[in-house]
Amino acid sequence: DEIVLTGIKPTGKVHVGNYIAAIKPALQIAKDSNCTALYFIADYHGLTFIQNSNEFNELSYGIAATWLALGLDPERVVFYRQSDVPEIFELSWILSCLTSKGLMNRAHAYKSVLDKNEQLGVDMDTGVNMGLFTYPILMAADILLFQTDKVPVGKDQIQHVEIARDIAEGFNRNYGETFKLPNYIVDDNTAVIPGLDGRKMSKSYSNTIPLFESADDLRKLISKIKTDSTPPHEPKNPDTSNIFLLYKEFATPGQVQDLRDKFLNGISWGEAKQELFQVVNAFLEEPRRKYNDLMASPDKIDMILDEGAKKARAMAAPLLEEVKRKIGRYKC
Ligand code: TYM
Repeated sequence: DEIVLTGIKPTGKVHVGNYIAAIKPALQIAKDSNCTALYFIADYHGLTFIQNSNEFNELSYGIAATWLALGLDPERVVFYRQSDVPEIFELSWILSCLTSKGLMNRAHAYKSVLDKNEQLGVDMDTGVNMGLFTYPILMAADILLFQTDKVPVGKDQIQHVEIARDIAEGFNRNYGETFKLPNYIVDDNTAVIPGLDGRKMSKSYSNTIPLFESADDLRKLISKIKTDSTPPHEPKNPDTSNIFLLYKEFATPGQVQDLRDKFLNGISWGEAKQELFQVVNAFLEEPRRKYNDLMASPDKIDMILDEGAKKARAMAAPLLEEVKRKIGRYKC
């Protein structure tokens, strides 16, 4: 069986970029009976950014409710909260001791904070906590602890998966073959989903389309998508349009062909946005109801995640024991 694993951190509401690049392919893969899927809420990764308890709590449950509302079947997927699996943090520490600081210096989430600090002319360490600095090591532990084969993610996570491979290789070199080397799965067409302003859709740019807004708010957000100044009635290129790119992910092949024709025949941007709103909203109507129901019954979410954590811990324990044996923790 192939192991497929991915996580989302609770640093903002789950958005269309998370859905298209990670959740949608992950749910598709989970239907394949030849794989074991592990999907989790990377809550302690989120803690590096969110230090308000209400917000942290709300966002964490929000991710759980999102996966379930979109059809994750907890009978088929091992679905858990990272912080319920202490084995991950024990492995993370062990891996920290084997990881050079230089490797972390090159990680781009950390480097982008340094760049920002330089631009602002403030001390280079401003806003850098140790969790942010060692973030990729915890992510390596998430992945390596389960002998993961494949990690479906967006492009921004490729470097993290590569760091996990480097860390695994380092351990294997020193202690003998132990960890499998993971591979990322990134679809070229959806590697970087653009946000409202055309930059990468990101919680940190405030340019996201959250999945579970009201229909009204969804319409308002979609109407804000930045477009070029091609006048109404003039032909438009679907293949360079962010509206069309998003449309393709929610529409049927027939609808996609229709909208392509309308672009070539000179649809106005306003109408194109209206078409986009309609397919996204139609797709989300049912999940939105489920999401709201789940958010109103956190006990249900807890029950599901508790079950998932039991399974995840049982899967993780033997490898962690092997690691502890290899580092010399036991008399043998
Ligand atoms: P996070 O929470 O930032 O994002 C979750 C997933 O969504 C993808 N993504 C995007 N893809 C395309 N275009 C975008 N605009 C876009 N925005 C977000 C991300 O690439 C990701 O796949 N470090 C991870 C969480 C994590 C993890 C893991 C992932 C922790 N441990 C182990 C995989 C395996 C993160 O911050 O994702």
